[in-house]
Amino acid sequence: MGSLKNLRDAERIIWAHRGRSRTAPENTLMAFRQSLDAGDAGIEFDVTLSADCKPVIIHDDTLERTTDGQGEVFNHDYATLMELSAGSWFGPRYSEERLPRLYDVLEELGERIYINMEIKSSAWRWEVSAGIEIKLMDIIKSFGTEDSMLISSFNWLSLSRVRSLNRNIAIGVLVRRGWNSDIAVSFAEKIAAFSIHPNVTDLAGGMPVPYIRFSGKIFPYTVGDADTGKRLLGTGADGFFADLPLQGTLTI
Ligand code: G3P
Ligand code: MG
Repeated sequence: MGSLKNLRDAERIIWAHRGRSRTAPENTLMAFRQSLDAGDAGIEFDVTLSADCKPVIIHDDTLERTTDGQGEVFNHDYATLMELSAGSWFGPRYSEERLPRLYDVLEELGERIYINMEIKSSAWRWEVSAGIEIKLMDIIKSFGTEDSMLISSFNWLSLSRVRSLNRNIAIGVLVRRGWNSDIAVSFAEKIAAFSIHPNVTDLAGGMPVPYIRFSGKIFPYTVGDADTGKRLLGTGADGFFADLPLQGTLTI
């Protein structure tokens, strides 16, 4: 797997949230390439399924905010989605950016930078995300990038399915603001998760004891400034998700 170490041997990781999302349209190849060029340790992106059940990298369930399309992602087939601009909302000179194909991202970047793939598979829309974990695990296997990837989701059912499909891949348990840290740790231990990803606002008063006791990594989301990053690293976080470049300077 190239010169990239196994994710399990990495120390602190600052994850570029949706790629370099402050200087390029989020979740595009441009944002991911900027991360690579800047020397970021890892990128995070969100993946869901098209109407014809192909993986598409986009954060929202709907197209309006980050593309020139309209409506729900799952109502559009893959070919149609690939024609949309995923950059014109960010500025006219980004209009040629497309929603990245997972295949292209793994082929170009899979052995060069750590990748956190966040599965967007809301329970209420299970009928349109059925089988997403099987597809994603098959694709990762075909690219041989398992050792440098971290799979996360707020949908813990999805994470259980990932574990049942793959005994070794690193899993990150995403915890929404206000969710119970004890329960998050219990679940993470049950599925042998690599990391827990708490909401940074839940750590304002310090690192909750269950997270301190957790033997895996703690990667809070989402940090925008260096001072917050320093505080988190000083209270036991192993890195964090960041809107990059950070405001201020952080040395790790
Ligand atoms: O995975 C960290 C972060 O991406 C989770 O929130 O809504 O930005 O996908 P969101
Ligand atoms: Mg995300």
